Amino acid sequence: MAKFNKILLTGINGQVGHALYPKLQTLGEVFALDRGQLDLANPDAIREVVQRIKPDLITNPAAYTAVDKAESEPELAHAINGIAPGVFAEEAAKLGALLVHYSTDYVFDGKKTTAYIESDETNPLSVYGASKLAGEKAIQAVGAAHLIFRTSWVYGAYGKNFLRTILRLAAERDTLSIVADQFGAPTSSESIADATISALQQWETGKDGIYHLINSGKTSWLGFAKEILSQYESLQEVRKWPPLKIKSADVRSITTAEYPTQAHRPANSMMSAHKLEKTFNHTSNAWNQALSQVITTL
Ligand SMILES: NC(=O)c1ccc[n+]([C@@H]2O[C@H](COP(=O)([O-])OP(=O)(O)OC[C@H]3O[C@@H](n4cnc5c(N)ncnc54)[C@H](OP(=O)(O)O)[C@@H]3O)[C@@H](O)[C@H]2O)c1
Repeated sequence: MAKFNKILLTGINGQVGHALYPKLQTLGEVFALDRGQLDLANPDAIREVVQRIKPDLITNPAAYTAVDKAESEPELAHAINGIAPGVFAEEAAKLGALLVHYSTDYVFDGKKTTAYIESDETNPLSVYGASKLAGEKAIQAVGAAHLIFRTSWVYGAYGKNFLRTILRLAAERDTLSIVADQFGAPTSSESIADATISALQQWETGKDGIYHLINSGKTSWLGFAKEILSQYESLQEVRKWPPLKIKSADVRSITTAEYPTQAHRPANSMMSAHKLEKTFNHTSNAWNQALSQVITTL
């Protein structure tokens, strides 16, 4: 089993960073940094931190994740998502360290009718997607040992995400309308952390590359919202949770065209996790099972 001496972790206050932190401690000594301790928009600060800590594993879940806001802040999004990963890769190469980085389904345009595989052509529709694709390319261009995990629709008990937003809105509002024509795989931050640890335990030279890391199955944002509310309803009495104003059956279906956003999103975000399963013998749960594990921890 691969063990590491020093592990640098960015984005400790983010969903994936928060889930990774305790699990990474099983692999080595973790140096976890928040934005105040390391600003990814500052390449010199990245170099200084890596050279000071001298990690043999860098895990970088920190990112500019405000998909719509990125349309009006392209330089900042590109600095954090496009440039910083390449700087980490350069510093990792100098130390002979492994870099673990996260990317997104939004590198694709969603026009494929089946699940995307890692070698499929990318064509981001948004500034965010383009900045994340630039980060992937910057890492690959350096040639340091790396694992890039593309994931999708991330949520968890901790952080800002769709699950928590739906529960809040269902408590506050009388009606809820959710987009029904974008399809993908909701993926829990815990599942991402588990798969990352599994891959790290089996890490060896030659396994570098991009991997799709998602919970299995497929749904729409509407299906995800209904499942959240239905699972909440089934636990509500036992857990003595407050009642919600909106029931799962009451959630209304709308189209992407009826819910315009600054950034365009792919209609098909489905990705195949076959490569990850084959290389690291790790299979993630079905998305609704992962959801039920998260909901019970709320
Ligand atoms: N969220 C999704 O639905 C989704 C979908 C596909 C892929 N991904 C990818 O998965 C990874 C993890 O995402 P996540 O959901 O965990 O994101 P998240 O919850 O939004 O967390 C991102 C973290 O990055 C930090 N950060 C932002 N700007 C920074 C900067 N300039 N310097 C240092 N840290 C900075 C944030 O700090 P603060 O806490 O201070 O804001 C936050 O802790 C990212 O690579 C993301 O692109 C996410």
